[in-house]
Amino acid sequence: MARETWATRVGFILAAVGSAVGLGNIWRFPFITGQEGGSAFLLVYLAFIALIGFPALLVEFVVGRRTELNPVGALQELGSGAWRYVGYLFVATGFIILSYYSVVAGWFLRYTVIGVTDGYAAGAADPEAAEALFGSVATGLDSLLFHALFMVLVVAIIAAGIRSGIEVAVKVMVPAIIVLLIGLAAYGFTLDASAEAYAYYLSPDFGVIAENWTSILPAAAGQAFFTLSLGMGVMITYASYLGEDRNLAEDAGIIVGLDTAIAVIVGFVVFPFLFAAGLTPGDGGAGEIFVSLTAAFAEIPAGRVIGTVFFAMVGIAALSSAISILEVLASYLMDEFGVDRVPAAAGLGVAVFVLGVPVTVDLVFLDLLDLFADSILLVLGALLLALFVGWVASDAAREELEIGIGDLGGLGEAWIWVVRIPVVVVVAVSLYLGVV
Ligand code: PHE
Ligand code: NA
Repeated sequence: MARETWATRVGFILAAVGSAVGLGNIWRFPFITGQEGGSAFLLVYLAFIALIGFPALLVEFVVGRRTELNPVGALQELGSGAWRYVGYLFVATGFIILSYYSVVAGWFLRYTVIGVTDGYAAGAADPEAAEALFGSVATGLDSLLFHALFMVLVVAIIAAGIRSGIEVAVKVMVPAIIVLLIGLAAYGFTLDASAEAYAYYLSPDFGVIAENWTSILPAAAGQAFFTLSLGMGVMITYASYLGEDRNLAEDAGIIVGLDTAIAVIVGFVVFPFLFAAGLTPGDGGAGEIFVSLTAAFAEIPAGRVIGTVFFAMVGIAALSSAISILEVLASYLMDEFGVDRVPAAAGLGVAVFVLGVPVTVDLVFLDLLDLFADSILLVLGALLLALFVGWVASDAAREELEIGIGDLGGLGEAWIWVVRIPVVVVVAVSLYLGVV
């Protein structure tokens, strides 16, 4: 059977944007920004996105389009056999990330349902009630059921294939995310506390960067890769379904621009909500956004509707990302072992579900997996891939990039040198700081 392809250019771009925009932008970005000192972190992160994230996205795109294969097959074809171990690293990382990603996405689904059935008023009366609510959502049977439900949705989309599964789904989901998010930001603007919230969000303290750079650098690098879905082969896989040759740099620019704009807009949503409820963004970690936001939704006008829409929007964003991770795993089974799409998706879905079960039992597993996957696995994956493309497969990569763009006075050569040295050095330093 011929390998599937995207039906349209828009379909490919929306799929990649759908993958990029997810819990990384909405759940992870605000709490990492809070933990790492607010807008000082934001500046380092933005610099990393432009200087490291954009070239690294192109690296994955050229590898995928060149080989038309899953990450393991792609690296084996372009390099020698040993490079395929980097592909195995990607597949392993995908399993780990999807397992906890699905659990957290399940919490957002659960909070959407709570908005419909009960509202968030319980959290207003006392913060302990909000904590207790989060505890009951995040662990135990509820958590397990919504993790299962989320994985069923992911499997259903992937089983339906590239065009009628992923492409149809993202054409609905991505515009919905953008419209809902802009609506929520506009609502946030109407709140009295918005001025104070914007001031908090947008005034960088450079002293913080100088003081904490050993933790800001790896956190910013990890977040840059996580948010752009880099370092585990998602963008290799999606580009492998490009049947035609178009300008990859242009597509990458659109994807990076939209993901970054959405992360920044999320700050304009979340911070006004918190300030309106008299809360200050703290560093309470993974659960904090749930606890403080439900308290905020209990406080602000029309909070129940706003909250329900917010949680649903995050659930959609998580779904459009999770499908891209399962597609990496499925493409590996399909290309390398000739497994059919439907059994591949279903079998992998069950395996990922099982792997996520410990997270529904105790949240320490979430922190461990997230930290390990994000500051080590993704960064290591991105580093090895940059070394491979920059130093081993550079001729093929440059030639592939220039297809659809042209030579443009050495643009391809400049990109290869950016990948060879700055990307490799920054990523290696971040990895080192993340490990020690
Ligand atoms: N980019 C996604 C997000 O921001 C997460 C993700 C990471 C998706 C790695 C795929 C691969 O939520
Ligand atoms: Na993202």
